[in-house]
Amino acid sequence: MSAMGINKIAGAILTALIIIKVSDLAGDAVGQAQPLANPAYLVEGAAATPAAKIQAKSAATPGAITAIGPLLAAASAESGKSVARKCATCHSLKKGGKRKVGPALWGVVGAKKASRSFRYSSALKGLGGVWDYAALNAFLASPKTFAPGNKMTFTGVKRDSDRAALILYLRSLADSPLPLP
Ligand code: HEC
Repeated sequence: MSAMGINKIAGAILTALIIIKVSDLAGDAVGQAQPLANPAYLVEGAAATPAAKIQAKSAATPGAITAIGPLLAAASAESGKSVARKCATCHSLKKGGKRKVGPALWGVVGAKKASRSFRYSSALKGLGGVWDYAALNAFLASPKTFAPGNKMTFTGVKRDSDRAALILYLRSLADSPLPLP
């Protein structure tokens, strides 16, 4: 084999090694961001409970937001009320409330996004659609990720159960609450 041929092969091997190393590092970084509680493959079997499946789903895609339906079913609006204290600095939660730092939130569950009397950022105006449960779940988990560039300077409610309770409470702040999913 010519020296050229050997060089090409050596080059290819080197490239492959670099790719493996880089994806290794990337894998590490993702793993650190959200350690997998259970290896996803353990719960793929027929014996997996629905809860385990949900966990497997979010573990398989690090950073994914857990489906809101089962979380809401397990949540209480009463505990959501105390989570909502974090919001009250910036949002009125009362019926007929006025805008504060942020828009008034009475009746926001199921309402059109960015539809209140408020000067929204273009990030929020550009979202389109309504604040259904899935959208609120994703937005309140990480406002910055859901609507990059929006003006709500709030890191988000990270714990799934707190967020579900909060959304259930927000839902109760309406004349006719949106049906549960
Ligand atoms: C530091 C102030 C601040 C805090 C705390 C805050 N928000 Fe906001 N929120 C805002 C602002 C400002 C906007 C408008 C964002 C924009 O236009 O980009 C907003 C927008 C929203 C919207 C969209 C409303 C619409 O009409 O489309 C929802 C829903 C919302 N906030 C819910 C919450 C909830 C629930 C909490 C508590 C967990 C919370 N916010 C905490 C300031 C805040």
